[in-house]
Order: sequence, then C-alpha cells, then structure tokens
Amino acid sequence: MGINLRGRSFLKLLDYTAEEIEYLIALSEDFKNLKRMGTPHNYLQGKNIVLLFEKTSTRTRCSFEVAGHDLGLGVTYLDPAGSQMGKKESIKDTARVLGRMFDGIEYRGYSQELVEDLAKYSKIPVWNGLTDDFHPTQMIADMLTIKEKLGKVKGVNFTYMGDARNNMGNSLMVVCAKLGLHFTACAPKELFPEEWLVEECKEIAKKSGGSIRLTEDIDEGTKDADVIYTDIWVSMGEPDEVWETRINLLKKYQVNKAAMKNAKKTAIFMHCLPSFHDTETEIAKQIEKKFGLTEMEVTNEVFESDQSVVFDEAENRMHSIKAIIYATLC
Ligand code: CP
Ligand code: NVA
Repeated sequence: MGINLRGRSFLKLLDYTAEEIEYLIALSEDFKNLKRMGTPHNYLQGKNIVLLFEKTSTRTRCSFEVAGHDLGLGVTYLDPAGSQMGKKESIKDTARVLGRMFDGIEYRGYSQELVEDLAKYSKIPVWNGLTDDFHPTQMIADMLTIKEKLGKVKGVNFTYMGDARNNMGNSLMVVCAKLGLHFTACAPKELFPEEWLVEECKEIAKKSGGSIRLTEDIDEGTKDADVIYTDIWVSMGEPDEVWETRINLLKKYQVNKAAMKNAKKTAIFMHCLPSFHDTETEIAKQIEKKFGLTEMEVTNEVFESDQSVVFDEAENRMHSIKAIIYATLC
C-alpha cells in the first residue's frame, strides 16, 4: 500500500515508520529537483499555515516561510510576544482558535507536551519545529544530506559527539535506529540520552539492522565513522550558569582534526547549526573572555574543511520542510 500522511502531525519520529520517513526523504529530493529546475509547485494554493516561535530561529523559520510561499500557502508568523498564547490564553484554547483559521501549525518552543497538546486540540496537522526533547524536521534534512553525500543511509556509521541528551542527540538516535544506521553517542556519561529512549531505540534498531552504542571513549567512538555530527554545548532555554560545567564536561569531545582523522577517509562532518566554531558572535566573544575558548564544539578548521557539509545540510532544511508540509496537507 502507498504511503499516505495526509492529516498527520509531525511531532517526533518515534510516531513514524521507517517507510514513512524514507518517503519524506524521497519527497524532499523531488521538491529539491523541482526548485532546481525552476518548476512552479504551488500545489497548496488557498491553504494557510501559522508559525509559532517561542524560541529564536534562522533556518527553521526561513524554511517554513520559503517552503510555504513556494507551495502557494498563506503564511502567518507569530513571535513569542506576538500572541496571547500561554500568557492570557491557554494552549487548549489557542489550539482550538488556530484550528478554525489555519490548515497547519508549526510550533517551536520548550515543552514536547505542549506541541502534542496543540495537535490534540487544534485537530489540524502540527509540525514540531524543535522542543527541548526533539527536533524531527531537522532529521529529514540530515538523512537527505547523508543520502546525497554517501549514497545511502542504511549501514552508515554515525557518531554524535557532545550533549547526547539534548533534542538533537535524542532525535538523531531515533532516526538512526529507525533507518538502520549504526549510531554512536560519544559523550560523557552525564550527558548520555535517557535510559528509556536508549532502550526503545535499541529495540527499534533490532528490526532495522542498525545499532545503538554509548561510549565515553573518543578513539572508540570516532573510529571508522562515516559521519561525525555535533551540536552546540548549551541549548536554547538553558540558563547561562550551565556553561562552565558543560565546557568542562565537553571540551575533550570537540570535533577536531584528530577526531576526523580517526574516522573514515571519506567521512563527512555535520552540524544542525548555529555553531560556535569561531569568535564571530556575541556569545562566543563572551565565552572567550570568560573561559579563554576561541572554538567550542567544532574547530574552525573542521567546520571550514572539505569534509564539512553543513551548508548543504542547511539548504536541505527547506526542501525537507516543504516535503513534510506537502505530505501532511495535500
Ligand atoms: N538547525 C536549526 O534548527 O536552526 P535554527 O535554530 O536557525 O532554526
Ligand atoms: N540543541 C540546539 C539545537 C538548535 C537547532 C538547541 O536546542 O538550541
């Protein structure tokens, strides 16, 4: 039977089968080709979506806006100060109002429970644009990028270095388990993903032919990797006070030349971005002043190297978000 995602929300990849995820990757490729050829694809003309952002964003917001316009959709953006949600109006009421006006809702914020409630009460497709726990739209872009660069996703040795229990660590472990990649979280044990999720992913991996490994050992974790992936050490919404502990825990897990050398010769470097690979940002300057660090989760050398595919990955956010919107609204 063909895949049909019409009317579905996209809240976390645990809710999706491997076939459904593969379908979204393939659809992203189709939309990328249409865009490249300049073929109009405003297939959803007449529909409207709303984008709710309680945390900041460059890639996710722009991807939803450009994808929406390309698909012919009306797009409304609401920033944290721009709606009554949470302050004067409950999530349940907000969801029921938005569900009467729009065809789909994107939500970026803190709680996974909140995005699940938006979907429950609005009764229209809701897309999770990042919560503290998961970042599922990023996963479709990341798997598309791996497929483009390495020719496959199944069987790929995937190493994630850094804060392995944040939204990126969790989501990457889930998508790797679903699609049969060999996932390694290379991190201090304090930052390993939660036990229940590890166990669930191990079960999923048994069926897909993938595997899940957690290690504190950098040599072991990076050896023969096809992909080395990292993310910032302190995520949005975490207090500034955690920087010092986090730096101390993670500095040896920085993706540098030695880590890349231990991986396969053909290995690629990936990052969801934004990245602290130099001191060109306000926060990086403050960190330099306080802790003397000029690069954090990845060295500038690796970030700027030929092995780095981070900007292809960023572009793929737009094509894959377009596929997710289309598949669920068409
Ligand atoms: N990768 C990602 O989600 O980027 P933004 O925070 O800029 O949306
Ligand atoms: N872990 C990061 C991801 C940003 C795309 C954060 O939540 O800030």
